[in-house]
Amino acid sequence: MDSFSIKGGVPLHGEVTISGSKNAALPILAATLLTDEPCVLRRVPDLSDTRFMVQILKSLGASATFENGTVTVHAKKITGFADYDLVRKMRGSICIAGPLLGRLRKARISLPGGCIIGARPINLHLKGFQALGAKIKIDGGYVDAVAKKLIGAVTFLGGRAGSTVLGTANVMMAATLADGVTVIESAACEPEVVDLANFLIAMGAQISGAGSPTITITGVAKLHGAEHEVIPDRIEAITFAAAAAATNGEITIKGARPDHFRAVIDKLNEANVLVERSGANLVVKRKGKLKSVDVTTMPYSGFPTDAQAQLMSLLTLAPGISIITERIFESRFMHVSELTRLGADIEIEGPSAIVKGGKPLSGAPVMASDLRASAALIIAGLAATGTTQVNRIYHLDRGYEQMDVKLKQLGARIQRVEE
Ligand code: EPZ
Repeated sequence: MDSFSIKGGVPLHGEVTISGSKNAALPILAATLLTDEPCVLRRVPDLSDTRFMVQILKSLGASATFENGTVTVHAKKITGFADYDLVRKMRGSICIAGPLLGRLRKARISLPGGCIIGARPINLHLKGFQALGAKIKIDGGYVDAVAKKLIGAVTFLGGRAGSTVLGTANVMMAATLADGVTVIESAACEPEVVDLANFLIAMGAQISGAGSPTITITGVAKLHGAEHEVIPDRIEAITFAAAAAATNGEITIKGARPDHFRAVIDKLNEANVLVERSGANLVVKRKGKLKSVDVTTMPYSGFPTDAQAQLMSLLTLAPGISIITERIFESRFMHVSELTRLGADIEIEGPSAIVKGGKPLSGAPVMASDLRASAALIIAGLAATGTTQVNRIYHLDRGYEQMDVKLKQLGARIQRVEE
C-alpha cells in the first residue's frame, strides 16, 4: 500500500490547476446509461472512483473509453445488473440505480456498505423511486427496484441531515423518462446536482429549479447523446487553499469556481486567510496571524462537510479555541486521533471537535482512514516540522488527481513511497 513521505515546513508557492469534480463526474457518468446514443464527457478526473464507475458501466454492457480526462460512453444495450464486486467498493455507484430504473424500468444493485464516516443509508433514494411507482425489494444485500410504469410524482427528500445529494441525483435521473411531471421537494442544492441537471438537459431532459430546494422534471420519451464538460472540483480547490494557508505560503489556484464555495471563502477570511480573485484565478495567502474560528457543516450553500477535515488541520495552527461541528455525518472525525499524533490538541465533544490551536505540529507516521481525512493529514504534514509518513494513501487516490505531483509543483517536499 502506497504512502506519502512529507518533509514539512516549506511554504507553498506557485500555481495549481484544479481538476474536474469527482462528485459531479460520478452521477454524470451514470447518466450516460439513460440513452442508447454515445456521450462525450470532458474534464473527468482520473481517479480510482471514476475508473471504477467506467468499469461498472462496462459491466452493464456499455462500451467506454477514458483517455486524457475525456470519457466516451455508448450504452447501446445494457442489463440492469451491475457487478457486485465493483458496486460494493464504491458508495457513489448507488447513482446507477436511477438511470437503470429510467431506461429499463428495473435495477438490481448491491446495497452500498456503510463507510467509515457513517451508515450511509439509501432510504430517501428508495422513497423517491417508490413515489415514481417502483416496487422495492431488499434481499441478500441487494436492492431490486422494478416499475411497470414510471409515473411523475411529488416527493420530499429531506432527511435527518437535510437533503441527500445522490438521492436527488438518482430520483432526478429516473424522472427524466417517467410519464408526467415529477417535483422533488427538499432537493439537494449542491453545484454537482446543477452540473448533472445541465448534462441531462443537454441530453433533452426537461428540468427546472436545479440548485434550488424544488426541482421540477417533465418526463420525455427518450434522451439523446450529448457532450459535457464537468465543473471544477470545489473540494480540491479548498484543500489546496487550506494547504497554502497552513504552510504560510502564497499560491494561485487556476480553473476553480469561487461561486461554488463562498461559505468556505468566508470562513477562511474570518481565520485571516485571504482568498481573492486575480483575473480568472484565485490567490490564497495569510493576511497576518491565523485566527481561531467556529465551523458547522451544513447542506449547500452552507459549509461543506467534505471540507471539514481540511479546515481542522489549518485551525490546529490558529492560536485559540476553534469549535468544529459536524452535522451531516455521524462519525467524520477519524482524522482527529491522527492529528493529535502530530501534536494537535483536539477533544471531541459529541458532534463537535474542540481545537486548541497555536501549538506547532511535529512530523510522525499517521494512518489515512478516508478520503478527506487523508487530505487533512497531508495538510498537517506539510505544516509540521520534520517528516510525516501518511500511510494507506489509496484513500486519497479515490478523490484527488495527482495530489503529490501538484504539491511538488508548489514546492512541497513530498514523495510517494510505493510498497
Ligand atoms: C455525497 O454523498 C458526496 N459523494 C459526499 O462526498 C458528500 O459528503 C455528501 O454528498 C454530502 O454533501 C458523492 O457525491 C459521490 P448524502 P451522498 O446522501 O449523496 C443521510 C466525498 O468525500 N441520508 O447527501 O451519499 C446520510 O446518512 C464524499 O467526496 C439518509 O439519511 O450523501 C447523511 O447523513 C463523502 N438517507 C446525509 O443524509 C438517504 O437515503 C447526507 O448524505 C441518503 C442520505
